[in-house]
Amino acid sequence: MTMKQWQITDEWSFDGLKMVDVPRPEPGPGEVLLKMKAVSLNYRDYLMIGRGYGRMSGDLPLVPLSDGVGEVVALGEGVDGVAIGSRRLPCFIRDWYSGDSGPSVFASALGGPLDGTAREYMCTPVASSVQVPDYFSDEAAATLCCAAITAWNALAEMPATAKDGGTVVTQGTGGVSLFALQLAKARGARVIATSSSDAKLERLKALGADETINYSETPEWGKEVLALTDGVGADLVVEIGGADTIGQSMRATRSDGTMSLVGNVGGSIAEVNLPLVFMFRKRMIGISTGSVADFQDMMTYLEDNPGFQPALDDHIYDFDGLSTALQALPKGQHFGKIAVRIS
Ligand SMILES: NC(=O)c1ccc[n+]([C@@H]2O[C@H](COP(=O)([O-])OP(=O)(O)OC[C@H]3O[C@@H](n4cnc5c(N)ncnc54)[C@H](OP(=O)(O)O)[C@@H]3O)[C@@H](O)[C@H]2O)c1
Repeated sequence: MTMKQWQITDEWSFDGLKMVDVPRPEPGPGEVLLKMKAVSLNYRDYLMIGRGYGRMSGDLPLVPLSDGVGEVVALGEGVDGVAIGSRRLPCFIRDWYSGDSGPSVFASALGGPLDGTAREYMCTPVASSVQVPDYFSDEAAATLCCAAITAWNALAEMPATAKDGGTVVTQGTGGVSLFALQLAKARGARVIATSSSDAKLERLKALGADETINYSETPEWGKEVLALTDGVGADLVVEIGGADTIGQSMRATRSDGTMSLVGNVGGSIAEVNLPLVFMFRKRMIGISTGSVADFQDMMTYLEDNPGFQPALDDHIYDFDGLSTALQALPKGQHFGKIAVRIS
């Protein structure tokens, strides 16, 4: 039997990204076979098409995308306790089960260097996948991978006070920031959210942001965070802007507060005022997606808090449109995760 999959075939470019027919895989020992229902996109997937991660992109041909959800349709030898028909999400870093990631686990990232989720069927080790709560649609469930687990871990570093209603700052309207906003609100934090667009700021408010700042109109938005917090600063800043934002994040963070360093959309090399960090005992913590155990913790939380709905862009693509969906990412006209329906 054959199935369809997208793969970057013989050149690292959108010309090389093709839908092809390949044999349907069979689950090996310890694996389940998933009939993929939906996938979702991250900017990483767009960069991967052009081999944007160097040798960490892997080799051709490569099935792109890290995020997706599928229905269990067959069990490999030795798998028990998994129901046929249940939906599972393959964890982004396949071989990172728990604890310290160590230097080598990122060689097991889905969507480069390992084959990813953009296919009608895929096998995953059952130990590297988690069941998703029933209340999510397939499209919503498909978003709960790279960006969601990153936001989850960025917030896990909140000081204890923030979990009881402290202040969290999120930056912009990418996937990590939207998850951070929604998860922080769900946990009772006050959220101050930034964006370059007033229209997007309105949508951030609709998602629960308590206060918003247009960082294009207010480049010194760190001062504005201080003004909104009686000069104290935020308990936690989810830092995605890198060189463009780290200086303001350092201002916006309270004494003993935390900056969770997640991204570098505004550049990787920054000049920083170090005394601002050590004099006020601010903490900077690197966040790098998460382990299977982290995914399991997040799923347990979501199961226990069934109101949670990820922000999805209005336009859901079909499987044939995956290349078009990926090429829409840099245009930045979407709001929320872009999902692609497979079956
Ligand atoms: N460490 C990890 O494990 C991990 C995991 C996932 C992603 N990342 C990284 O996290 C970053 C965000 O990724 P993503 O996929 O969530 O989103 P994305 O699509 O890469 O982010 C795009 C958004 O960033 C915002 N932005 C750009 N410059 C900004 C600035 N100076 N200040 C505030 N916001 C700014 C813009 O928001 P507005 O349009 O609203 O202005 C834009 O829509 C990337 O650098 C990505 O590589 C890291």
